[in-house]
Amino acid sequence: MHMESLPGDMSFKADGSGAVCGLYIIAKPEELIEIEFTSFDIDCEQGGLLAIVDGWELNGQFFPNADDHPLPIEEQYRTYCGVKTPTKRYISSQNVALIQNRILKPGQGFSIRVKFIKNPQPCNAVYMADTGIYTLKNYGNRRNCTLAIIFPEVVQLVAVDVGVTAERKSIEAEFGLMNKCETNSGSDMIEVMGGYGFDTQLMPRNHVICGLQSTPAKSKIVLGCENSVVRMVSSGKYYNTVTFQFTPPVVEELDSSSC
Ligand SMILES: *[C@@H]1O[C@H](CO)[C@@H](O)[C@H](O)[C@H]1NC(C)=O
Repeated sequence: MHMESLPGDMSFKADGSGAVCGLYIIAKPEELIEIEFTSFDIDCEQGGLLAIVDGWELNGQFFPNADDHPLPIEEQYRTYCGVKTPTKRYISSQNVALIQNRILKPGQGFSIRVKFIKNPQPCNAVYMADTGIYTLKNYGNRRNCTLAIIFPEVVQLVAVDVGVTAERKSIEAEFGLMNKCETNSGSDMIEVMGGYGFDTQLMPRNHVICGLQSTPAKSKIVLGCENSVVRMVSSGKYYNTVTFQFTPPVVEELDSSSC
């Protein structure tokens, strides 16, 4: 297993151990990953294989999860070997991608050139630092976007406009925040959740929020689990945006009982 957060040329040659290797690539949240295969030599015999995951996978959990992924399931995870070589230029759907391989023949392997390119409309992203401020937007689209932070966090909502603004203009009245977000015209909402692993479907939905409030929320949400996520569900009927900040919990706040 290897994590790479810088672009550049990389190559892998098997040592003959047949171990499963994973190269976890991460760019900035507002970037995509472009992977160009400059060489590819992996025999299918004895199960030699390279897989490109459009996201990250750990312990069988995928980010983004299959439902929130913009691509159909067969394109989220693709395998290659022998004459079936990867397309020369591959572009991920978010700031993370994973190359897994198991190569049995010593000396076989592959080379890639990795570039980070601007994502004009970031949706799903993994965040690598434990402190920050971030904005999720749907740009009026029907899609679900998640920021996954790989740390326990205390999350404070700074500004929320979810399930309210039906056009690209601001509404004067402040509705405030609500926890009942199912309406006839959709169930646009934010979910602030924590858990072990990446799969947002496996996390308890304790904090569901929608409404309009342009001042920071007084209360903070403590997520004492290994990973923290803010997920925005959008029906496509509203221009949703949420800005939140997050800081690591103090020791007394670290309570994993709800994970
Ligand atoms: C977004 O998530 C909601 C519930 O979590 C689901 O009902 C809806 O189909 C999802 N939308 C898309 C575009 O995947």
